[in-house]
Amino acid sequence: MEQVNIALAGFGTVGTGLARIMHENGEWIRRRLGKELVIRRVLVRNPEKERSFVLGPETEITADLDSFLLAQDTDIVVELIGGIETPLRIVTGALRAGKHVVTANKALLAEKGPELFRLASELQRGLYYEASVAGGIPIVQTLKESLAGNRIRHITGILNGTANSILSDMTNNGMDYAAALGQAQRNGYAEADPTMDVEGIDAAHKLILLIRLAYGQDFPLARMGIKGISGVDPYDIELARAFGYRIKLLAIVKEHSGRLQAGVFPYLVGEDHILARVDGPFNSILLEGNGVGPIMLYGQGAGDLPTGSAVLSDIMALASGKPPNNTGFVEAVLPEASTLEPELTTTRHYFRFTALDRPGVLAAIAGVLGERSISIAQVVQKQHPVGRGVPVVFLTHTAQVRDVEAALSQINGFSFVLSPAVHYRIL
Ligand code: NAP
Ligand code: HSE
Repeated sequence: MEQVNIALAGFGTVGTGLARIMHENGEWIRRRLGKELVIRRVLVRNPEKERSFVLGPETEITADLDSFLLAQDTDIVVELIGGIETPLRIVTGALRAGKHVVTANKALLAEKGPELFRLASELQRGLYYEASVAGGIPIVQTLKESLAGNRIRHITGILNGTANSILSDMTNNGMDYAAALGQAQRNGYAEADPTMDVEGIDAAHKLILLIRLAYGQDFPLARMGIKGISGVDPYDIELARAFGYRIKLLAIVKEHSGRLQAGVFPYLVGEDHILARVDGPFNSILLEGNGVGPIMLYGQGAGDLPTGSAVLSDIMALASGKPPNNTGFVEAVLPEASTLEPELTTTRHYFRFTALDRPGVLAAIAGVLGERSISIAQVVQKQHPVGRGVPVVFLTHTAQVRDVEAALSQINGFSFVLSPAVHYRIL
């Protein structure tokens, strides 16, 4: 049987997951492909390290990047290292040497995607990345092929398993933030630098990849509004629950008259909303196409086997010998997105002030909101004092973020406001 030789850069969580599925499903893969996939060599930092999956004698393990790149017998290079510098060298080196490439590296593709896709197109090589967005969920293939004929109206996603598992553990299990983050790191969901996960940057990278696939445009990271979950106070999780909401980190892109508005923010999501039920490391993507209508995909967004499964689907697609389709568009270079400023987003809002409990406070706050045409949907003043003040919570009807930020800045300046407003958007 014909063999397809794979060189695997990185043998950590995802690399070992990939090797395990390839081993367990070897017979099944041969039946579908009519070819045998063989991991010929593996690049790691430390070849002596004990691994959770033991490779066979057909695989050479090395820490020598040059010999890894120069090997002549490789058909597909799989990059599962993470970060930018070394992966960039591996991906460009592999493409220039005539190999197809598979990667799970969303940071690399968000930052260097245009040059890498141009190179792959010039050299007519595959550059596949199913695992880079939402782990095991087949969203790349879905947008690239299954929904290719649709105009996508919006995408709303829970795209980071670490952030979602932290928020779920804080909401459902009463865990504190640090313990919940430690748990996600031990489970192998978190990035080497977990600030990427908790500050919303990893979700923003993934959103950039989805925007390319759905809209055929390159959305610059600098123009995306991004806020993470590291500052989420358990008290707001508790108050949100009392109002019938869960806090979720959402990545959203919408099209308004040909312009794209995209951002990553913690949102209050009504407990009856389908996304409110996505817990733990699970991810979900809700989107709407003008032909297909709404679609929701749900599955494990991180972890060894789910992510390995997505990497394997790319390897099999490239090993099949069909001409590669990297971006789903004819152009090698996609145009820069026509964007709408994040401050022009209209949504509902939640604010919590800590204010002195004295006459006129609510009226003064409501006055500022009224002057900016921000309509109040609910207001509650809690009786439990926080230091010298009491918590006052407002939920608004739809209002523009720019107006809300201006109102909050004015209200934060009142002498009766003891700490600056906590502000969340409501889905
Ligand atoms: P990981 O567990 O930290 O493994 C990284 C691997 O790369 C290790 O085997 C490490 O070698 C090797 N490595 C790191 N730097 C290297 C260098 N300079 N030269 C050679 N080898 C090097 O990472 P991971 O969680 O598998 O993630 C890999 C990629 O998949 C990342 O891009 C990540 O964003 C992406 N991803 C991860 C998940 C997930 O659930 N973990 C999900 C989707 C996408 P040693 O083992 O010798 O240290
Ligand atoms: N660190 C990422 C997450 C891995 O937690 O979702 C999957 O991309």
